[in-house]
Amino acid sequence: MRDRSTEPSNDRTMPPHAPTIRPVAPSDVFSLAKVYEETARAAYQGIIPHDNLEAMIARRTPGWWRRTLGKGSQTLVLEVDGRIAGYVTFGPSRYGEGEAGSAAPSGEIYEIQVLPTHQGLGFGARLFEAARSALAEEGHEDVMAWAIADNEQAVAFFAHMGGQVFAETRILYRTKTLRRVAFAFRPGVERPVRRA
Ligand SMILES: CC(C)(COP(=O)(O)OP(=O)(O)OC[C@H]1O[C@@H](n2cnc3c(N)ncnc32)[C@H](O)[C@@H]1OP(=O)(O)O)[C@@H](O)C(=O)NCCC(=O)NCCS
Repeated sequence: MRDRSTEPSNDRTMPPHAPTIRPVAPSDVFSLAKVYEETARAAYQGIIPHDNLEAMIARRTPGWWRRTLGKGSQTLVLEVDGRIAGYVTFGPSRYGEGEAGSAAPSGEIYEIQVLPTHQGLGFGARLFEAARSALAEEGHEDVMAWAIADNEQAVAFFAHMGGQVFAETRILYRTKTLRRVAFAFRPGVERPVRRA
């Protein structure tokens, strides 16, 4: 009888695939809607007023993603064990001039999201660096990203990735006004040393 013990197998004993970052595929739209819903709710609950947050989430249907993908932005997804656990969207900066007349970076990371269950494991940094490389290849060496100032996790993350605040603005909701800060990431401004 043939010995199958050394042959590759498709059964559940196969080790999980290594996490990968790849360009988005049309069939990812359901996962993207799910990742946004879970991540945004966890990140913004208690920061963005409830009704506004729920409206933001309700808008991001698979159909919204289908209509939006590729229209002026690029998307990379993080796949862990065959499932989408995060994504980053990016493209040309949508911002004009920075504070005090300093030119705004020409590239922008529009949104970066990692499922709460997968945060703190280095995936955000990998997505961020992948987007930054893709932007650099298109000539966008300087990159920017917005964060709501009360979103401490995002602010800490962007600062940790070497970002420096160069502009700020306000978002008006019916019951609340939130401050939004813009980080610039420029070559030569190194990421701080990794924590022990
Ligand atoms: C912000 C976000 C993308 C970071 O992703 P992550 O996978 O948790 O981050 P990583 O594990 O890759 O961390 C990268 C670095 O940032 C640091 N960092 C991340 N979160 C931090 C926090 N809350 N406080 C301090 N440092 C933090 C990490 O220590 C790490 O540094 P190290 O490599 O030296 O250890 C993720 O938390 C997220 O999706 N948040 C909700 C959505 C959001 O707010 N997105 C940003 C605005 S669009």
